[in-house]
Amino acid sequence: MTAVAEAVRDEVLPGRVWFYANYHCNLTCTYCLTESDPRAERRELGEQRMLALAHEAAELGFTALGVTGGEPFLLPYLPELLARLAAILPVVCLSNGTVFTERRLERLRPLAELPAHIQISLDRPEPDSNDAMRGPDNFRKVVDAIPRLVERGVRVRIATTVTSIGDQERERLCRLHRRLGVPDADHVIRPIVRRGRAVDHGLGVDAGPADLPAELTITTDGAFWSPFGPTVHGGRLDTDLLITRTTTPLRVPAAALLRLVQGRPPGTDSQLNIR
Ligand SMILES: C[S@@+](CC[C@H](N)C(=O)[O-])C[C@H]1O[C@@H](n2cnc3c(N)ncnc32)[C@H](O)[C@@H]1O
Ligand code: SF4
Repeated sequence: MTAVAEAVRDEVLPGRVWFYANYHCNLTCTYCLTESDPRAERRELGEQRMLALAHEAAELGFTALGVTGGEPFLLPYLPELLARLAAILPVVCLSNGTVFTERRLERLRPLAELPAHIQISLDRPEPDSNDAMRGPDNFRKVVDAIPRLVERGVRVRIATTVTSIGDQERERLCRLHRRLGVPDADHVIRPIVRRGRAVDHGLGVDAGPADLPAELTITTDGAFWSPFGPTVHGGRLDTDLLITRTTTPLRVPAAALLRLVQGRPPGTDSQLNIR
């Protein structure tokens, strides 16, 4: 058994490796931690690189993959890439849920037979409050896309990112996601982290390594402590949570992260529910 496999088995190291597929996006959310928008520098990781890294992750003993961005579904090769990644390790891909044309939905159909989830952002149960943060017409597109994925057998999760949410609003949101075909177990609510554009709007909570699960995160610029690490502020990449500039071979950042988590004192777990 590899050192990574042992650490994952003992829950010292999370099993998931994240890929930042890109940084550009069709939206400009007010709290976006990567300052993504249509003009953002793309910083694409690349299809072949993600596949090679996924194979290496499996060999090292990691147990799951995550794909995020920017908006990953702006990449033309994404649907088929997700199927290929899911054939290596279970995968979750984060999406804003706004670019699911009929053709793209059909290309996602093979995911129904694979260990794959698409995690779609939906922050509020009503259009006005949701779209105030995520942009015009966002709510309508998302509630249109989710059932069309579900009816094709694709497993969907919903991620809600907020500064806070009251009991009644949370209940309305949960009734909505159940109606869209997403069970309670596949709905996460987590706080806005004060990084990226959230800093400029004074939104969210401060979070450091103790608050963020140590999920190895690979970008075109290097390997980071968590998917909340390779954020962008004022157009510049944050490097406070950079582990190594080297990403290939994956065993280099994996070993560096392992050393860091093994050196942590016990009892420092966060209660912020950032995931
Ligand atoms: C950066 S986005 C990338 C994927 C896709 N574009 C989306 O919005 O789902 C990944 C997730 O991070 C959330 N997110 C963005 N900025 C955040 C912040 N400052 N703190 C916490 N989560 C944030 C988004 O709402 C989304 O659920
Ligand atoms: S949160 Fe997602 S959808 Fe919104 S701007 Fe950032 S990358 Fe785009």
